[in-house]
Amino acid sequence: MTEQSTVTLRTATPATLPDAQTVTEVEHYTDSLFRFRVTRPPSLRFRSGEFVMIGLMSDPDPVTGKQKPLLRAYSIASPAWDETLQFYSIKVTDGPLTSKLQHIQPGDQVILRPKPVGTLVHDALTPAKRIWFFSTGTGIAPFASLLREPETYERFEQVILTHSCRDVAELKFGQELIEDTKDDILVGEEAQSKLIYYPTTTRETSTKMGRITTLLEDGSLFADLGIADFNAENDRAMVCGSMGLNTDMKRILEAYGLREGANSDPGDYVIEKAFVG
Ligand code: A2P
Repeated sequence: MTEQSTVTLRTATPATLPDAQTVTEVEHYTDSLFRFRVTRPPSLRFRSGEFVMIGLMSDPDPVTGKQKPLLRAYSIASPAWDETLQFYSIKVTDGPLTSKLQHIQPGDQVILRPKPVGTLVHDALTPAKRIWFFSTGTGIAPFASLLREPETYERFEQVILTHSCRDVAELKFGQELIEDTKDDILVGEEAQSKLIYYPTTTRETSTKMGRITTLLEDGSLFADLGIADFNAENDRAMVCGSMGLNTDMKRILEAYGLREGANSDPGDYVIEKAFVG
């Protein structure tokens, strides 16, 4: 995926955007990844790990001149207590939304439908010793919320984030997240003793290479972390990433005896099916 800067958002954004929020910060990581922050609607309540619909208006229809909202599910990548809302996004050159969204700048407006939902929430898991956050690509976003959520450290003795990307540059958001979390005024001290970060790359050479599913199945993940008792009694997991990751992780976790949970029926692991990497 490469960015082509042919769209100018400002001309395409009407003054009266429905559910408008203002962009406060934008940071680009690679030609296919960026993060942004927007103002938070005062009435918005959400649980760390949930997602909302984010979007922009389409270009005017050539015949009718009408515009319609282009919306996509985005995990909130900041905790429930934060004053602004952060999001982490891919840029797809011909993607209806991200081809435009990648050009937003502070002061611009985006649409944010204030109806948070999602399965990656503490309410969907029963208590245990460890929590594993398994992510690929922008699937790390909900864990950027949960890692800065005090409940994560209240509920678990150990918190393990795995993040797999093709290239080293794609790990930067996660590396900054870990640094910020360990410095965080609310959870920093707990994170320093409980949080383990396990980044891997699958294409570019780095200190740890391989798909997390392979590293799980061949035992190297547990060997690297010195964990010999992964099971349904000790471990809970949340999974967010590509469709392939979801399918493979479900099989692997169930082979270890973990049972899928839901908001209405808490269990041992949950997968964010609404996520589209
Ligand atoms: P790989 O490079 O071996 O495909 P993408 O950029 O395609 O969204 O993928 C993001 C990361 O997720 C890549 O490192 C990719 O590895 C990895 N990945 C894709 N499918 C799976 C899967 N089924 N299990 C584990 N990791 C996966």
